[in-house]
Amino acid sequence: MRQVTSSAGSSAPWWRDAVIYQVYVRSFADANGDGVGDLPGIRSRLPYLRDLGIDAVWLNPFYPSPQADAGYDVMDHRDVDPTFGTLTDVDELIRDAHALGLRVIVDLVPNHTSSEHPWFRAALAAAPGSRERTRYLFRDGRGPGGDEPPNDWRSNFGGLAWTRVTEPDGTPGQWYLHLFTPEQPDLDWTNHEVRAEFETILRFWLDRGVDGFRIDVAHGLAKDPEMPDLAGGYATSGPAVEGHPHWDLDEVHDVYRAWRRVTDSYPGDRMFVAEVWVQSPQRLALYLRPDELHTAFNFNLLLAPWDAKALRSAIDESIHELAAVGAPATWVLSNHDVIRHVTRYGGGDLGTRRARAAALLMLALPGGAYVYQGEELGLSEVTDLPDEVRQDPAFFRTGGAELGRDGCRVPLPWSGQEPPFGFGPSGASWLPQPPTWAELTVDRQASDPGSMLALYRNALRLRRELPALGDGQLTWIEVGEDMLAFRREPGFVCMTNVGDEPADLPREVLSGSAVVLLTSGPTNPEGRLPGANAVWYAMG
Ligand code: GLC
Repeated sequence: MRQVTSSAGSSAPWWRDAVIYQVYVRSFADANGDGVGDLPGIRSRLPYLRDLGIDAVWLNPFYPSPQADAGYDVMDHRDVDPTFGTLTDVDELIRDAHALGLRVIVDLVPNHTSSEHPWFRAALAAAPGSRERTRYLFRDGRGPGGDEPPNDWRSNFGGLAWTRVTEPDGTPGQWYLHLFTPEQPDLDWTNHEVRAEFETILRFWLDRGVDGFRIDVAHGLAKDPEMPDLAGGYATSGPAVEGHPHWDLDEVHDVYRAWRRVTDSYPGDRMFVAEVWVQSPQRLALYLRPDELHTAFNFNLLLAPWDAKALRSAIDESIHELAAVGAPATWVLSNHDVIRHVTRYGGGDLGTRRARAAALLMLALPGGAYVYQGEELGLSEVTDLPDEVRQDPAFFRTGGAELGRDGCRVPLPWSGQEPPFGFGPSGASWLPQPPTWAELTVDRQASDPGSMLALYRNALRLRRELPALGDGQLTWIEVGEDMLAFRREPGFVCMTNVGDEPADLPREVLSGSAVVLLTSGPTNPEGRLPGANAVWYAMG
């Protein structure tokens, strides 16, 4: 059994430099043949994840849900949707993962519940002002008869952030807030019952052995009690700017201090990773103060264009601000909410070359990293899904103006020549896979030393072996303006040519006894590094 320790082999907590693989449960592996991925499917593929060389998996929500937003509309936080399996399957998955040296992180969705959650059903059945309603954000409407929504807030997926209910006596009634779909009513986090409930949910999963939680929309829990209009002053989506009335209010930090006390009362370095979309690393760092959360996704790298200056300042700012609170960075290139980075970086051969270089860059940076399933296969966004198979509420609520996120959620290709490429035992997959993925299956890439999969496996193996990688510092080497070059001690250099043209290597690499450990391109560079390429060196 592989030791469950940090890759640096030190006694630092494992999460400071872990590589965490995001499993999008419905699209990873389907064991029962219904075309939707499930927990037994993941369990059967754990050896693949061990061989890839990651440290932990984060599972997207698998709780009972009407699936109005792919499981981010939770009906019961302490159970499993039959589509994905049972609680016993979770227990077995955790047990098998631990036996293989892999940790397990589950997704916690505290900002809202499903509208089918017993609390919300009770709120609808109860009167305005009742205890049942105070768990959510019900408000009277404005205007004559309360016909107008309480303010001008918008849903992240398009349309109003308010829906009017019909009171139990049949009259048009109050409005409730939903920053996402109407099927995802926002909870009121000033309510003590809500707070107590989530602490027991944390304990439920900690008792079952999970190693951590990913916190969904962690910057959304507190709202300005006055609920002022946005009045065109603030955007609904995108990184939150200061003063926003429903994103990143200071009051959220109280919640996380209480949660930290819960995880600290358990043995074994349990951790949180927060999804926080804020504009500055300074605001992000507040979530990571020593008595709050352990880590947060650092979306700076993901948001930066493929441009040396932009990438370097994203890296520098993040490291600097997080170091101020003693927190490690956690780098992210893709996830289930954004366009896959092969496509963002230009698509086709160019996008793939850049994505290969980006993988070496990311995995050499100080701190931890997230790998979104399929990025290790070099999958690109599927942009031509027919409208009738699309499921993302963002597509429907914007009348198709936004394609939504289905294109990065297409089931993985494992083997074979035809869809569903070994995804499950039947011919089904909940979204169709492009026929060209025959070239990108795990089986195909596993035996090709030049494949994206081979690159990730080699990089992750070296990351474990080299004491310079993982947690720590970097020192920039100043070279040409398209080159991102840095040194890490002891004796490691990473160079990434972000430009399109070959670029000179610095003298210290050429004249010393530098040994190439890994390159993202097909050949070892001699003297110059080709465009859109990265290389790792061991320095003599
Ligand atoms: C987060 C999730 C996203 C979901 C939203 C609402 O941003 O990552 O998939 O739609 O929260 O829960």
